[in-house]
Amino acid sequence: MKVLVIGSGGREHALVWKIAQSPLVKKVYCAPGNPGIGRLAENVALKVDDLNGLLEFAKREQIGLTVVGPELPLSLGIVDLFEENGLKVFGARKNAAIIEASKAFSKDLMKKYHVPTAAYEVFSEVEPAIAFLDTLGLPVVIKADGLAAGKGVIIAQTREEAVATVKDMLSGNAFGEAGSRVVIEEFLRGEEASFLAFTDGRNIIPLASAQDHKAVFDNDTGPNTCGMGAYSPAPVVTPAIHEKAMAEVMRRTVDGMAAEGRPYRGVLYAGLMIDGDSVKTLEFNARFGDPECQPLLMRMKSDIVPVLLATAEGDISAIELEWHDKAAVCVVMAAGGYPGDYPRGDVISGLETAAAMEDLFVFHAGTAEKDGKFVTNGGRVLGVTALGATVKEAIDRAYAGVKAISWKGVHYRTDIGKKALGR
Ligand code: AMP
Ligand code: GLY
Repeated sequence: MKVLVIGSGGREHALVWKIAQSPLVKKVYCAPGNPGIGRLAENVALKVDDLNGLLEFAKREQIGLTVVGPELPLSLGIVDLFEENGLKVFGARKNAAIIEASKAFSKDLMKKYHVPTAAYEVFSEVEPAIAFLDTLGLPVVIKADGLAAGKGVIIAQTREEAVATVKDMLSGNAFGEAGSRVVIEEFLRGEEASFLAFTDGRNIIPLASAQDHKAVFDNDTGPNTCGMGAYSPAPVVTPAIHEKAMAEVMRRTVDGMAAEGRPYRGVLYAGLMIDGDSVKTLEFNARFGDPECQPLLMRMKSDIVPVLLATAEGDISAIELEWHDKAAVCVVMAAGGYPGDYPRGDVISGLETAAAMEDLFVFHAGTAEKDGKFVTNGGRVLGVTALGATVKEAIDRAYAGVKAISWKGVHYRTDIGKKALGR
């Protein structure tokens, strides 16, 4: 079978790496891919939002399965389009991907189906929004309703900042149309975890537990990014927390989406806040997390293609997933300045040294090739991902890889996985 992966980040490199190992797969394509992906798959110069171009390509090449990485094509309806054309495709349909594309939708869904989450209200006018945030205390969380590339959440520490943020979003200055409605919600304390599961709309198969590191600097300081590193398993997800997340978050959400006439098929990602034995949902994503996907797929023992195919076909009841006992840690190497402005085109050295390291793989995210060399071409540049007998061993291996690699102005966190060691 031929498989097409859509996207160009570390998540897609990990997907291509895992899919290419399947005995069911003859050839992997990636659109648009990146130079690292190009070592394992054939890159296709089509953008992720070029739905018709992707459809034509998949038909022409007789692609047996298309796997959609990022949220944008899902929210534009790529799955609906491919299905209408009789093609097998892994991902949420447009009317289900709204669980990520609209925070107001997902909060209202959670309220209706009793999925535990922070207290909130949705506003499109400034005055009532300010009146509500005054009832919540500080800090207070303000979220742009629509897709904002992981940057639409502001945690305001002062009333002035909160009021300014609300005005900025609702006036359309910040995030444009995505901020024309805002969710204002209670600030939750605790430790976050990323809880992902495959679902066909009825059956739910959880992936191993994982934890992301959103803030750009050590000790969770500085602005939020799309993720500076991740590891699996995450000890904060104890067996009791796992049970609770499955029963109160995943089951209620999958059943709720079905009841709404929006059956959810694909991978459902819940961002959880865990505090003692309390589990609350911060957000849903309609896709694999990135970087979480990198350590998760390194730990996945089973062939991934059968579960992707069964999900696309709408019945995962016969699927069982096996995981390696080892832990995996991914450290993101980013361009200095990210998540703000950052330079591109810096030559990356040390990739060959890292490639020779045992139980380590360097997934590419924002790279390009210039004069036969890899150069930086994005905020998140590489995901250095390693396996170890324990989280500690995986951390040490990943950082040995990180230390072998460098470029001018490279930035990475030095404390990925630290919370796991504290437990
Ligand atoms: P979201 O896109 O909703 O996951 O928000 C991005 C990040 O903002 C989360 O990973 C949390 O770190 C933080 N966050 C979002 N909502 C809340 C909340 N209600 N309380 C505390 N932190 C939050
Ligand atoms: N790592 C967070 C996300 O993928 O949304």
